[in-house]
Amino acid sequence: MESEALVTLDRAEFRSVLGHFASGVVVITAIVDGRPVGFTCQSFFSLSLDPPLVALAPGRSSTSWPKIARAERLCVNVLAAGQEALARAFAVSGADKFSGVGWSAPSTPGGGPRLHGALAWIDRVVEQVHDGGDHFLVIAAVLGLVAGQGSPLVFYRGGFGSFAA
Ligand SMILES: Cc1cc2nc3c(=O)[nH]c(=O)nc-3n(C[C@H](O)[C@H](O)[C@H](O)COP(=O)(O)O)c2cc1C
Repeated sequence: MESEALVTLDRAEFRSVLGHFASGVVVITAIVDGRPVGFTCQSFFSLSLDPPLVALAPGRSSTSWPKIARAERLCVNVLAAGQEALARAFAVSGADKFSGVGWSAPSTPGGGPRLHGALAWIDRVVEQVHDGGDHFLVIAAVLGLVAGQGSPLVFYRGGFGSFAA
């Protein structure tokens, strides 16, 4: 994907300005070869209501995504306020990310681990993977979803916070 504009933009400025777009934080999980795998992700959104589709953008440098892509079925864990430590733990490449983390087995066959204390869980299956520069754009069909109680963990300008209405 060639884009003239990107070449001339200062990367630090690009990250800094885009960091002004506040978002929730999710952890993408799956069971691969019988073991839980996961990574923290901010680039997640609801794409389509009918059919029910969501999208995310895993980086090409992620070591977890290629494994999760093989599993095809995964869970999006929407993190709750107070789960900053979990968000940081699932962002460390190569770490034993599930060590000491409470999770439940997938509710849908082949789905991903549901992290305890998360605000919502969305089970899905990967439908399409597109080129997205140094990331992929993944479109997935929603198989099941449920929300818990609480307020979201928010990510804004490189820092974590919570939401106050
Ligand atoms: C708040 C936050 C948001 C992140 N969002 C993304 C994202 O949208 N896409 C992505 O690929 N990595 C994202 N990361 C980085 C990944 O979590 C990190 O690169 C990954 O966990 C590395 O581990 P892996 O090699 O096991 O994949 C984010 C990290 C943090 C802390």
